[in-house]
Amino acid sequence: MPKGYRVPKPQLMGSAEKVAETIEHWYHEGVMDILLIRQDHPAGFEDFIKLVVPILQDKGIFRKEYEEDTLRGNLFMKNRITQLLGIEHPIISAAMTWVTSAEFVAAVSSAGGMGVLGPNAGQTEKATSAEDMADRLTKEIRKVKALTNKPFAVNYIFPMGGATEDPFTNAVFDVLVKEDVKYVIAIGQNVVDRELKRLKEHDIKVVYRDLSPTVEKLVEAEKSGVDALIVTGYEAGGHMSDYKISTLSLVPQITSLVKIPVIAAGGIIDGRGAKAALSMGAEGVYMGTRFIATKENPASIETKKAIIKVKSEEFIEFKSGTGHLRTIPTEAGKKALELINQGKHAEAYKYYGEGFKIGMLDGDLVNGTISVSESAGGIQQILTCQEVIDEIVKSISFDQKEAHPKLI
Ligand SMILES: Cc1cc2nc3c(=O)[nH]c(=O)nc-3n(C[C@H](O)[C@H](O)[C@H](O)COP(=O)(O)O)c2cc1C
Repeated sequence: MPKGYRVPKPQLMGSAEKVAETIEHWYHEGVMDILLIRQDHPAGFEDFIKLVVPILQDKGIFRKEYEEDTLRGNLFMKNRITQLLGIEHPIISAAMTWVTSAEFVAAVSSAGGMGVLGPNAGQTEKATSAEDMADRLTKEIRKVKALTNKPFAVNYIFPMGGATEDPFTNAVFDVLVKEDVKYVIAIGQNVVDRELKRLKEHDIKVVYRDLSPTVEKLVEAEKSGVDALIVTGYEAGGHMSDYKISTLSLVPQITSLVKIPVIAAGGIIDGRGAKAALSMGAEGVYMGTRFIATKENPASIETKKAIIKVKSEEFIEFKSGTGHLRTIPTEAGKKALELINQGKHAEAYKYYGEGFKIGMLDGDLVNGTISVSESAGGIQQILTCQEVIDEIVKSISFDQKEAHPKLI
């Protein structure tokens, strides 16, 4: 929740530099992130705008908006997630197989959020081996670094099904170390201790997202020593949990119980969703579906248009190999559902498994599946990543009338 702070009057009588320094100090201390100045303030509304605001803007910590008689300013929200990840806004674009790329990740990170390279990032064909995948990932990481100097993360898939090792995970680990990547979004059925240990030994921050989260599993995950948790509700796009627990149900249960910071995921597409997540104690949002429908995302324009067009009630859903899958009712999706209802799971996989890339990336709305959040019904436009982030930032800070920013 944004916090306000009353600037003691004598402070404002000092020079503009001194006032700006004081505000910067509070900002870094994390005690203030909204600034309101009334026109009749004795320190002088006009002077403050003319003299202090430009210094704060130079420092890169202030955005301003005017109302009739009040300056509403936003000192970029600072919390444990922005601090952990070294980002301006606690907004992270999800790791999504096929539909991330260096350009997309750099666009999110440059806009002040954090972009995450997902599996097959920037690719149009599957890698032929773990070594081939590692080469491609290395190139994509280098591209991100050439495009932005802001922090970004890489998706890290813990070995599953009780395994303690996986050749693809090992290959990704080696790339992270060689390329000096500092952050991972790790996913799995549980935290694998060997993996966490070696990531930590290389000082890599680990944000863990359980594929089928429950209260007990996430409490355990905290004990294992991860840095933060992503709590994913059933509204989410992509692979869905074994348990049909919504974001609204799950997030507050977890934030009440764990001490490490929590990021909410699943069905969040705008500032209103982000505000709800923050109200439930989350300190960040992790969004996939909304970011697919952006100009910089590598998904086909047909996929993006399908996201804009779909209504929430139109999706179909079925049990997939490891969890559930929701899709826009394409021919492939309908066929998969029919086969699953007949108990023909292996045959169904051909449609939904192989259809994933051709639907999401290539935009084939007949032979592919479009697996996104039901919240897609609320997405109306293809925006830039900057526009998506700006809307959320504005909403979680400027419009927090109910939050308690004090007038100075
Ligand atoms: C098309 C698609 C593919 C995804 N693939 C992955 C993946 O490979 N790895 C992963 O950790 N999460 C994956 N996800 C899940 C996202 O990381 C995230 O949890 C989800 O998108 C959040 O819900 P939202 O789409 O409602 O914002 C995928 C999501 C989508 C929509």
